[in-house]
Amino acid sequence: MEYKELYNGVQMPMLGYGVFQIDNAQTERCVKDAIDTGYRLIDTAQAYHNEEGVGAALAKAGVPRDQLFVTSKVWVTNYGEGDTMRSIDESLKRLGTDYLDLMLLHQAYGDYYGAYRDLEKAYDQGKVRAIGVSNFDTNRILDISTFARIKPMVNQVETHVYWQQRQNHQVMDQLGIAHEAWGPFAEGANGFFSDPMLSAIGLMHGKGVGQVALRYLMDLGVIVIPKSTHKERMAQNIDVFDFKLSKEDRSLIASMDANKSIIFDHRDPKVVAGFMKWFENVPKQA
Ligand SMILES: NC(=O)c1ccc[n+]([C@@H]2O[C@H](COP(=O)([O-])OP(=O)(O)OC[C@H]3O[C@@H](n4cnc5c(N)ncnc54)[C@H](OP(=O)(O)O)[C@@H]3O)[C@@H](O)[C@H]2O)c1
Repeated sequence: MEYKELYNGVQMPMLGYGVFQIDNAQTERCVKDAIDTGYRLIDTAQAYHNEEGVGAALAKAGVPRDQLFVTSKVWVTNYGEGDTMRSIDESLKRLGTDYLDLMLLHQAYGDYYGAYRDLEKAYDQGKVRAIGVSNFDTNRILDISTFARIKPMVNQVETHVYWQQRQNHQVMDQLGIAHEAWGPFAEGANGFFSDPMLSAIGLMHGKGVGQVALRYLMDLGVIVIPKSTHKERMAQNIDVFDFKLSKEDRSLIASMDANKSIIFDHRDPKVVAGFMKWFENVPKQA
């Protein structure tokens, strides 16, 4: 495994396992399979409604807690001073752990400053080893880094070959904030898994499309958290530490960047309106 040192000295694995869109009942088996396969970073969120499944797997994994890196995210309906701290305590209970390695604010909507102040307090109290944000575009990350007491350590944003997030990456780099990719396979959209360019590059290295994409992102210093419910795919997705992309490979993949979202475009009014409706319908303490 390769690691990224966060600016507070915490070592974060460069590759982890994400559990978005896995129901709570399946999550325990999936996370157990992922840990057995060698994953040590697990990425969940209050909004995924599967923290309990993650907790059950952690309890049975047979791997000491200090060798695992557990991330969760506070959902918008739990934002606000006091409410966010209560939701962190609830997450810890569901996950069956007395600390998180990383807690993120899931979205830059609502009272995210109030929520962030609770993240800072949780960090001071040792409930979380690192704090950060998710889906913060360049202007939001510059804003919170300027005005918050403790700068975020991580920003998790949609990042894949079709949207490489160069501008945001450059800003994060300058601020010392680690860039974490969600949707590193573009969730399979755009014909990702049969992409001819990635397939051809993979063929030269004896690797698959997904493996090439993960290697490319990690070489840029981006942390990746691919999701699969299939154990054999989990094994493929972590088998990316024994080959190197050439300069030519990298410049070909760089040319695939269309510089726009293909999953959740936070700048699209329709997508944002959808989020707002979702917040209305979700009770507090997701
Ligand atoms: N912060 C946020 O707002 C946010 C948003 C989205 C996601 N995330 C995080 O990022 C993680 C990863 O993103 P994601 O789950 O959206 O998408 P992803 O990892 O880009 O893609 C997952 C899709 O790829 C398929 N897949 C995985 N490995 C494969 C392989 N080797 N061959 C063929 N197909 C394969 C999976 O299917 P199978 O499961 O059937 O294998 C699934 O359909 C999430 O799980 C979550 O933790 C965060």
